[in-house]
Amino acid sequence: MDLPHNFFLLATALLGFISVCKFFFHFFNWIWIMFLRPHKKLIDYGSWAIITGSTDGIGKAMAFEFALKGLNILLVGRSPLKLEATSKEIIDKTFGNVEVKSVVVDLQNNSGEEIMNKVEEAIDGLDVGILVNGAGVAYPYARFFHEVDLDLMDTIIKVNVEGTTWITKAVLPSMIKNKKGAIINIGSGSTVVIPSYPLVTLYAASKAYLAMFSACTNLEYKQLGIDIQCQVPLFVSTKMTRMRASLFVPTPDKYSKACTKWIGYEKLVVPYLFHNLQSFLIRKIPDVFLDSYMLRNLLYMRKRGLIKDSQIKGSKASSNFKTN
Ligand SMILES: NC(=O)c1ccc[n+]([C@@H]2O[C@H](COP(=O)([O-])OP(=O)(O)OC[C@H]3O[C@@H](n4cnc5c(N)ncnc54)[C@H](OP(=O)(O)O)[C@@H]3O)[C@@H](O)[C@H]2O)c1
Repeated sequence: MDLPHNFFLLATALLGFISVCKFFFHFFNWIWIMFLRPHKKLIDYGSWAIITGSTDGIGKAMAFEFALKGLNILLVGRSPLKLEATSKEIIDKTFGNVEVKSVVVDLQNNSGEEIMNKVEEAIDGLDVGILVNGAGVAYPYARFFHEVDLDLMDTIIKVNVEGTTWITKAVLPSMIKNKKGAIINIGSGSTVVIPSYPLVTLYAASKAYLAMFSACTNLEYKQLGIDIQCQVPLFVSTKMTRMRASLFVPTPDKYSKACTKWIGYEKLVVPYLFHNLQSFLIRKIPDVFLDSYMLRNLLYMRKRGLIKDSQIKGSKASSNFKTN
């Protein structure tokens, strides 16, 4: 069969038209999600929110944000003094309009069963609608995997991976009973936005676990009315990063405001506007360039970290690896 002489021209024009339509569809969908989509009414999930990592940084800011929206807060933390201070701050800020309780749980030093029992006991009789798994620990500086000392290794696995798992196990049954709930696991851009995060391997791998844990449980429990998602920050100005706040490094307050808008929607989200733009642009860069840039940058940071470490310990920085 003879094709009309302008067939290829028409096919190319059609393909071009489809790509332009696709681009505009994604763009307007992004505008809708980012700026126009109505937020879920958090109180509809239940009157209590339970938050780990609530004594500092992002978790603490989320506790304030929820309390200002009228939710009662159950703070989970390892330090009774910090829990008491955070409780008082929330009560002062909300003029006593919400209830605040706290439970002392050390995600590193308590066993999984102890964590579960403590949380189950603390939520007994409470209408828990939201759980935020915000507690997390990162490396103080970049290092090769074999250089990670046993204590840091134990902390990262226990807090980032096991802690979230046991707390979720403790809270889910009451949400299943109520046929509603929202669980927010705080992941990291180190796993989702870039193809690899060398020299911070264990941290990135622990956050990859959270992304997969969230995706699977999201499917398991969606049908029971429970919205589970992994929220992914890039850099936020907290004690973990020790970075100064800027447009691309929000304060925890700014960041948590963005977080609450996304609760109940997609299973994996980059909630803060400028992180979202950053991640869109980063994903356009070929992996091979990103991998090479990350490795160089982190080797440089490791060198600086070793120097600082040696200054603290008063010993000479040792290195078996080329750092440039
Ligand atoms: N900041 C960022 O740029 C960034 C980027 C990507 C992902 N994230 C993730 O976001 C989450 C919050 O980070 P952040 O920057 O807000 O960190 P942060 O300011 O250091 O706060 C971490 C929180 O986790 C708690 N925690 C640590 N170890 C614990 C343990 N053994 N038992 C119980 N609680 C423990 C801390 O308690 P204390 O108050 O007692 O220390 C603190 O409340 C983490 O999961 C982190 O991985 C942060």
